[in-house]
Amino acid sequence: MKFFIDTAKLEEIKKANKIGILSGVTTNPSLVAKEGIKLEDRIAEICQSVPEVESVSAEVTPEAVTAEEMIAQAEELIKINNGDKKITIKLPMTLPGLEACRYLTKKGVKTNVTLIFTVNQALLAARAGATYVSPFLGRLDDISEDGVQLVTKIAELFRVHKLESQIIAASVRHPDHVTRVALAGANIATIPYSVIEQLSKHPLTDQGIEKFATDWGKGSY
Ligand code: E4P
Repeated sequence: MKFFIDTAKLEEIKKANKIGILSGVTTNPSLVAKEGIKLEDRIAEICQSVPEVESVSAEVTPEAVTAEEMIAQAEELIKINNGDKKITIKLPMTLPGLEACRYLTKKGVKTNVTLIFTVNQALLAARAGATYVSPFLGRLDDISEDGVQLVTKIAELFRVHKLESQIIAASVRHPDHVTRVALAGANIATIPYSVIEQLSKHPLTDQGIEKFATDWGKGSY
C-alpha cells in the first residue's frame, strides 16, 4: 500500500516528502478553504514541491454541479504548470460526477471519485473509468458503520471483476485504520500529517533510544 498525504498545507507535504514515503497528495475544498489561497495557485505550488509523486488531486469546487461545469473547471485545472500529468481531477460521487469522470478518462486525464460510502458507488466509479476511488472510512465510523469493512468489500469486488481503479482509503483518522486498510487491500491510504507522525511512534522505541543513550554515556559499549 502506498501513502498519499491528505492536506493542502505545503509545509506538511514537504515534510512528508522528505521522509521519502510519499506517492501523492489529496486536497479537498475544506482543506483548501482553510489555507485561504486560490485552488489553482496551491495546486501549482504542490506540484512544484513534490515533482516526483504520481498524483496530486485537485477537487472541483462546490459551484460545479453539472457535468459540464465540472469539466469546465477540470479543463482549467489540468492546464496548471503547463499541463502537469500528476494533476488528478477529484469529482464528487454524483451522476454528473460520473459523467465528467467518463469524459475526462477518455481524454487521458487522471480522475479520483470521492465521497464513496457504498460498494455500489465504487463499482459505478470504476465503470466510469476512475483512476482512483476514495471510500471515506472515518466518516462511516462516525455514524457507527464499519469503514474498513467497506474497503475490504471494494477490494474483493475489484479483484473478482478485474477492475483497474485503485482504492484510496480516505478519511483516515488513526494508525489502526492504516494497518487495517493495508490488510484489506487498499492500494493507497491518504492520511493527515499527524497520522504519518503517529505511525512512526512507539513508546518502547522511545524508551529503547533513551536506554541506548544512557548506556552509551556510561561507556558500556
Ligand atoms: C480524501 O480525499 C479526503 O480529502 C479526506 O480524506 C476527508 O477526510 P475527513 O473525513 O477527515 O475530512
